[in-house]
Amino acid sequence: MTSRPEAEQETTPSAVSPAQDQTVKGTNTRKVFVRTYGCQMNVYDSERMTDVLAPEGFEATDDMEDADLVILNTCHIREKAAEKVYSELGRIRKVKQERARHGKDMMVGVAGCVAQAEGEEISRRAPIVDLVVGPQSYHQLPGLLSKVRNGNKVVETEFDIDAKFDHLSARAERPVMKRPPAAFLTVQEGCDKFCTFCVVPYTRGAEVSRSVEQIVAEAERMAAGGVREVTLLGQNVNAYHGEAKDGSIWGLGRLLRRLADIDGLDRLRYTTSHPRDMDDDLILAHRDLKSLMPYLHLPVQSGSDKILKSMNRRHTRDEYFRLIDRIREAAPDIALSGDFIVGFPDETDQDFADTMDLIRRVEYGSAFSFKYSQRPGTPGATMDNQVPEDVKSARLAELQALISGQQKAFNASRRGMVCDVLLEKKGRNPGQIVGKSPWLQPVQLDAAEDLIGSIQAVEIVEIGSNSLFGQLIAGQDDHANPGLPRLRSKGDVI
Ligand code: 5AD
Ligand code: SF4
Repeated sequence: MTSRPEAEQETTPSAVSPAQDQTVKGTNTRKVFVRTYGCQMNVYDSERMTDVLAPEGFEATDDMEDADLVILNTCHIREKAAEKVYSELGRIRKVKQERARHGKDMMVGVAGCVAQAEGEEISRRAPIVDLVVGPQSYHQLPGLLSKVRNGNKVVETEFDIDAKFDHLSARAERPVMKRPPAAFLTVQEGCDKFCTFCVVPYTRGAEVSRSVEQIVAEAERMAAGGVREVTLLGQNVNAYHGEAKDGSIWGLGRLLRRLADIDGLDRLRYTTSHPRDMDDDLILAHRDLKSLMPYLHLPVQSGSDKILKSMNRRHTRDEYFRLIDRIREAAPDIALSGDFIVGFPDETDQDFADTMDLIRRVEYGSAFSFKYSQRPGTPGATMDNQVPEDVKSARLAELQALISGQQKAFNASRRGMVCDVLLEKKGRNPGQIVGKSPWLQPVQLDAAEDLIGSIQAVEIVEIGSNSLFGQLIAGQDDHANPGLPRLRSKGDVI
């Protein structure tokens, strides 16, 4: 099985937990249930939606039947994701009918990239939907909901990212209540790369970067609210080019260096990056910043020059190898992750063999992999020589077996290491806490609940299929312990 770190799973059907939001409790409290599909960007957007709704008297619930408002925050990247939304809407219709029998109303909204791509088609196909709101418009939710209450069906899919970011920044001026120890922060949205398989440039629009000032202010508020680890998000995050106060334009490396100065923010990550935008400053940030975690998600999609070209990836396999060498020189213990697509049009056995060869040469700590899916409106959808489904399936299985072996080897290489673990939440069993290693692996250990939110030195004692098992190093307190480095000896690296 291919590894699928948590937030990249195809669906992440978790409601935003009440602990994560900033609600205004009053006698007239209404409940909102948000279900999130797709990438981390959507997880972030879902949190922001509950922020926007809090002053309207909405409180988050994880029980759909209890909800006055249900929002599906959708993903359009692969076909099945949209289909899942439609079948979920079928289930919601029954919940709505049941509530109606008890005299209770329920509004239904579809947000995210399916909303952007399908627009009115959604309420045509699923008439229970009252509101369709694109990813650049959800800051307008309060106004849109009042239109719904006046009996209108509402579709809002304008692209005005600047307006959204301004609005959200103003919202976030309110004091931050308790946040989970690891959180996302969107710094950039949209993409100008136009890979020929991908809908993102059409659903999320052109690249827009938030200003340095906005991002620093949001990160400071997060740190003040107890966040220890921030993952900077963007569809093409390392293309970040945000304006600083003095009018200069900062790249992601410079932004990370600034964020590393914020008190209490001990861990920084960013995702997802494009090889073409991996500049020297960003690479050297991995060498220079202790708080920049040794993990990099750098999708390559294919190892064949012919396919890379027809995917419009704008680099060759050799350029990718050279880039990986430079990254490893700067940060020898970095765990590399990637995305792969098998069965892109005209992918021959030899092209696929080139991809397998690339994977063997790079050695990944984990990776996501997908069968190519024809997305309407993208150039790939109408290319000749589409690859038959059974060939795609066979290639995917072969590739996933290779990645799975590499992931196991990488995990096994952590055995016996002592590393810093951010303790994030309770585990399944009593007394168990789940945290995260510097290399983004889940680590399970026995620890007191009040240690959640702290960073502890942990010895990795056992390796499971999806997580590591660790033991607290007795007497070592929070991360402030400078005497205990994250182990970064070259010999321990993959
Ligand atoms: N078919 C299959 N996989 C896709 N991805 C994006 N578009 C498609 C598609 N049409 C994958 C890419 C990308 C990841 C987020 O999803 O690997 O990096
Ligand atoms: Fe899509 Fe990423 Fe390519 Fe942009 S860089 S078009 S988001 S795959």
